[in-house]
Amino acid sequence: MEKKEAPPEKKRGKISIPGLFKKKERGEKISWITCYDFPFAQLMDEAGIEMILVGDSAAMTVHGHKGTLPITMDEMISHAKAVTRGAPHCFVVGDMPFMSYQVSVEEAIRNAGRFMKEGGCDAIKLEGGRRVTPAVRGIVDAGIPVIGHIGLTPQSSSMLGGARIQGKSAASAKALVDDAKALAEAGVFAILLELIPTPVSAAIMKAVPDVLVLGIGGGPVCDGQLVIMHDMIGLFQAFQPKFVKKYLNIAESVRAAFAQYRADVKDQSFPAPENEYDIEPGELEKLKKLLK
Ligand code: KIV
Repeated sequence: MEKKEAPPEKKRGKISIPGLFKKKERGEKISWITCYDFPFAQLMDEAGIEMILVGDSAAMTVHGHKGTLPITMDEMISHAKAVTRGAPHCFVVGDMPFMSYQVSVEEAIRNAGRFMKEGGCDAIKLEGGRRVTPAVRGIVDAGIPVIGHIGLTPQSSSMLGGARIQGKSAASAKALVDDAKALAEAGVFAILLELIPTPVSAAIMKAVPDVLVLGIGGGPVCDGQLVIMHDMIGLFQAFQPKFVKKYLNIAESVRAAFAQYRADVKDQSFPAPENEYDIEPGELEKLKKLLK
């Protein structure tokens, strides 16, 4: 029987905004994870994750702050550079840190531009609804794709009374729908919904049908889901919201590896013969003579 040749492997392209909308059209949900460094970005790229958020959550997950406010634009750019080097196929979004877009539209455009020009990102995300539409317009007019973020917005969690579910009353849900419509009018191509009841997410999706709606605690109706990497792999241990699904408990394995390494160093079972190097035959004798 004639041997059939295997079909050529389909070349994997870079995820683009039209590509993301095609997925929405055919009802294929989009996977989105936060990432802050090169090795994890590589693993996400290899796993076929469509989107990466270089999130200001790095302030907590990587830098050990209690909230997201302290992280700077320079720190975010450094994370973005590492991530985009590691994930050439993913659609990478830079998260505008606190005070990088609130002071003036001009500053917002300049900082968004840094994510694209220095960080190699494909889009930026910023928090807020109607109050941030001037900044959104300015950034979009500069040719930079923008993702809005409404519901629980951690940079203003103090104003929102902490990490509470948003849109629980009809009036607050209506305010979220109005925020989404204003963002859509200002030109965002996507909106992230955080900590919102599923029926409210559905109402928002209906109000902005031409926008990608992604959720983190926004329910299964959304076009895609975002998770914070450190939550889903069990690396962030301070608290765990209900919307998080833990796929790994990496902290446990890594802690055990560190403890084992310490014990091996103490009892001198590490380095073992297979971990050490030898000198060329005869060279040791010569060295000894030289040192006499
Ligand atoms: O920085 C981040 O990870 C975020 C999520 C909390 C949505 O903005």
